[in-house]
Amino acid sequence: MPQTSAPRPQTPPWWQRGVIYQIYPRSFQDSDGNGVGDLEGVTARLDYLNDGTPESLGADAIWLSPFYPSPMADFGYDVADYCGVDPLFGTLEEFDRLVREAHARGIRVVVDLVANHSSDRHRWFVESRSSRNNPKRHWYVWADPKPDGSPPNNWMSEFPRVGRAWTLDEATGQYYFHSFLPEQPDLNWWNPEVREAMDGVMRFWLDRGVDGFRVDAAHRIATDPELRDNPLVETGEAEPRRDENWPEVHAILRRFRRTLDGYGAAPGERMMMSETYLNDLASLVRYYGEAGDEFHLVQNFLFLRQPWLATGFRAVVDGFEAALPPGAWPDYFLNNHDHSRVASRYDEHAGASRAGKGPARARVAAMLLLTLRGTPLLYQGEEIGMTDVPVPPERATDIAGRDPERTPMRWDDSPTAGFTTGEPWLPIGSDAERVSVAAQRDDPASMLSLYRRLIWYRKASPALLHGSYRPLGSAPEGVFAFLRAVEEERLLVALNFTGGPLDLDAGALGQTGRLELSTDPNRSDGESSMRPLALGPDEGVVIRLA
Ligand code: NOJ
Repeated sequence: MPQTSAPRPQTPPWWQRGVIYQIYPRSFQDSDGNGVGDLEGVTARLDYLNDGTPESLGADAIWLSPFYPSPMADFGYDVADYCGVDPLFGTLEEFDRLVREAHARGIRVVVDLVANHSSDRHRWFVESRSSRNNPKRHWYVWADPKPDGSPPNNWMSEFPRVGRAWTLDEATGQYYFHSFLPEQPDLNWWNPEVREAMDGVMRFWLDRGVDGFRVDAAHRIATDPELRDNPLVETGEAEPRRDENWPEVHAILRRFRRTLDGYGAAPGERMMMSETYLNDLASLVRYYGEAGDEFHLVQNFLFLRQPWLATGFRAVVDGFEAALPPGAWPDYFLNNHDHSRVASRYDEHAGASRAGKGPARARVAAMLLLTLRGTPLLYQGEEIGMTDVPVPPERATDIAGRDPERTPMRWDDSPTAGFTTGEPWLPIGSDAERVSVAAQRDDPASMLSLYRRLIWYRKASPALLHGSYRPLGSAPEGVFAFLRAVEEERLLVALNFTGGPLDLDAGALGQTGRLELSTDPNRSDGESSMRPLALGPDEGVVIRLA
């Protein structure tokens, strides 16, 4: 059976110990009544995230999605000025205050670095498109049309509704490349001036005290300089895609890392994590860097593609553990602002008259996330079991259909959920009475209480924080069970992915263990038989072994 652990430094850095909470600022907390969340709103909610006691969630870091000046074609992922704050979200002074207040509570601050592309309104692109001879022309990827006037190659936008990844600029007669929207032209990373400019952006935020970056679309930053067609069918190594995962990307990321490492009193004090949508694990783990000199955390998107099956989730974890280079540290997440919420994604059999499986499965998923070896990333609202909110066509805003998972955080049961005093930019949804912080805060059976218990338990558990991971081969089909162990502590985590009771023969681990945590609020802690260990439907447990 594989057993994996990384050699660990004396005191693991914060990004290995902590839970990173993702904030989508538009939808977290509005402070000025305009219906859109802002930085002051985030500051006002820091105590909810971590006030130093188990009454709070216990987040150790926040990752803020973009709050930079932007025309908002992609809600901030189209940056018009890398070194500012959009007035919708506040001011630089308010950002500084947020960092100060977060640090005062021991909460680290990670910001998004949207390096692959800017907005078409960024002054760099405005200059670039102004003429073929402009000094900024080659800051972006420009190419002549084919003789028949069509785009230079067959590259497609990541957003299916956009189609081709090229837009013709009529005035200068050339196409420019955009991995996403036409309003998001890709920067030309073969140009050393672009590399220098982005160093400057990193320094700007590091000087303001940020603790790290999440690098947007990191696997797409470098592309084939010869702009050759993608192979029509992906055929592996021999025929790689030419619009992503291009080898030069690693040199660029090493440069980011050097800039980052220039800050902080100790190595590893500042952190860099990727957004890397790659299915192939061998390519994915290269983003840690051959000498551990690229990302500290490489985001693995494979959980998002798993149906609700123990075997699938286990395969992702075992595969990632096996592929990790020596010393590399894993991380896991269940969703983010681009993906369906867990309680909805796994809610099969839901009907108008009864809730589906989603809520129970989301509890099991929470236990999985908080007990694996690796840093958990938690998207806002998951901790109260928010679901995807249906957004009527007349209120839809996103070209890629991501509005339902971006609806405002629900703080209380009022019509605007305590999110705003105005009209929220996206609907609140109708089940706000059960799904809100206020409704769940004092209910020991709630999702919020489960998340809090898991997070605070994890903080105090050496086995969960940095113990080895060993999957249990003897688990019956439908159960994902694994051991987390350090010398002084051994924990068994057993997750029942089925809707029926199941017995796990864990006798080899001892006669009895102590039940520490269950996703079933009716099951209380205490002695539990291991011969066999009984699991209820959709139940996950953590057992302390003698
Ligand atoms: C990934 C971001 O998470 C997503 O929201 C955005 O649309 C694309 N990158 C483009 O920046």
